[in-house]
Amino acid sequence: IDPTLDLFDEISRLKKEKNAVILAHYYQEGDIQDIADYIGDSLGLSQQAAKTDADIIVFAGVHFMAETAKILSPKKKVLLPDIKAGCSLADSCPPHLFRKFKEAYPDHLVITYVNCTAELKAMSDIVCTSSNAVGIVNSLSPEQKIIFGPDRNLGRYVAEKTGRDLVLWNGACMVHEIFSREKITRLKERYPEAKILAHPECEQAVLDLADYIGSTTGILRYATSSPDKQFIVATEAGILHQMEKDNPDKEFIPAPPNNNCACNDCPHMKRNTLEKLYLCLKNEIPEILVPEDIIARAVKPIERMLEISA
Ligand code: 13P
Ligand code: SF4
Repeated sequence: IDPTLDLFDEISRLKKEKNAVILAHYYQEGDIQDIADYIGDSLGLSQQAAKTDADIIVFAGVHFMAETAKILSPKKKVLLPDIKAGCSLADSCPPHLFRKFKEAYPDHLVITYVNCTAELKAMSDIVCTSSNAVGIVNSLSPEQKIIFGPDRNLGRYVAEKTGRDLVLWNGACMVHEIFSREKITRLKERYPEAKILAHPECEQAVLDLADYIGSTTGILRYATSSPDKQFIVATEAGILHQMEKDNPDKEFIPAPPNNNCACNDCPHMKRNTLEKLYLCLKNEIPEILVPEDIIARAVKPIERMLEISA
């Protein structure tokens, strides 16, 4: 790339020229969030992908999110700035093993968290995200037996909130599992006024400390509407960009992980850069393609989720 290029200008020009839309998750780097047409959590982004009239969707997020956009808008070209932007949680549930797991519970309904492959969604009855998982389980009859996957932490949290006995797949997110209860407790001693905000992908030991548990959009809204001024944030660090932008008078402290790394960045989310976004919009690669038969099966549980969450 010519180093004198103003990437913000170039991306805006290409977007208009190609009738493209940029959808970005809150875990993307700040520059990408700033150039996006829409920033959101997984639910908000899939709602946008379903209704956009753009010809091209540039999905600044990870592979399963771009796949979901393609499933919802199969006629549109869906681009992902870095094709290797995967997800440890989606990887923790290989479809051939999940198929066997599902066969062991033939009378169970299958709810899958959106953080999974298209093939897994195609094996599901309803998809959910972190912002609607509790509502979706509550919308089902209490007698309904349920398999929930792939995230065991979200699954356990949903089981507790709904009082339901869910059969859980044993998967997890590498970013949300790394927070240290001990270090958060010590941090709270230093900042006794701080409220602890946590994503339900965190382990129970961390969720037990939280004043608020919710999706990234939920966490952002809570912090913005709260009269409190200090927050310890137990989720991926990208969310801090919008939190600080929307609340310049408040202080946001990333929850410490239990290793010696200084940050809570998701290595998959952070594979995308502004340069890669520019190149992918310019060259229209890497493109996300999903086999037609998978789209035909996977779209039903996603649409069911969108109907329940409308
Ligand atoms: P939400 O976007 O639903 O908050 O999920 C967070 C996440 O881990 C996405 O990868
Ligand atoms: Fe996957 Fe976790 Fe990264 Fe989200 S934060 S994309 S769940 S690895």
